[in-house]
Amino acid sequence: MTRLVAGNWKMNGSLAANRKLLGELAVQSGVEVAVCVPFPYLAQLQERPAGLFLGAQDVSEFEVGAYTGEVSAAMLAEFGCRFVIVGHSERRALFGEDDLLVGRKARAAMARGIVPIVCVGETLAERDAGQAMLVIGRQLAAVLEVLGREAMAAVVLAYEPVWAIGSGRSATVSQVSVVHAGIRGWLREQRVRAEGVRILYGGSVKPENAAELFAVRDVDGGLIGGASLVGEDFMAICRAAADAV
Ligand code: 13P
Repeated sequence: MTRLVAGNWKMNGSLAANRKLLGELAVQSGVEVAVCVPFPYLAQLQERPAGLFLGAQDVSEFEVGAYTGEVSAAMLAEFGCRFVIVGHSERRALFGEDDLLVGRKARAAMARGIVPIVCVGETLAERDAGQAMLVIGRQLAAVLEVLGREAMAAVVLAYEPVWAIGSGRSATVSQVSVVHAGIRGWLREQRVRAEGVRILYGGSVKPENAAELFAVRDVDGGLIGGASLVGEDFMAICRAAADAV
């Protein structure tokens, strides 16, 4: 399965900074690369390196109408978005998104042909309590309940342990290995066609640890925050994904 590396710019960027960063990105063979940018920059990203996929960081669960501040999947599709991140832990924690809402957002995206990158992951307290897989199973079950088995097999999943995000402290290879295998196993148990589901890892991925993380079985790419804002680092991470066997 071709790995996917998606940059999540979060609420960063400016017209000038984006121009500079885009000048530093070049698509490479053997890996799919996407950048998920703030809504206002989707227009600027209409011009981008050939082969670089475009994504957004959120989408409305609603189709159209009186929903002030929301952005619909149809709008993202018009701007050529291939991907949209849903259920990022920052949205769950800071903006009160619950498991079923994440599922409905994924469904809204898919209805417009956009692939949702569904984020799941446990907090440090949940991990310490030995509940990581329980929490992730609950998050996945809500999405499966909304999407059904067929559509569930067509999403991209991202395992992002909350404690590893922006902390400089990536999960270890063995922690990642256990959870990614656990997620694929969970999908199989639910009779979802699990083999084709890309499971990305996210949380303090850097050029220095990318190769060892991408070498883990069941790690099919990465969701990159901070390092995706530095052209050279993001390209090095993409290269590591392309080179991983
Ligand atoms: P960092 O790579 O900055 O830890 O962020 C990860 C993330 O949240 C990507 O969605």
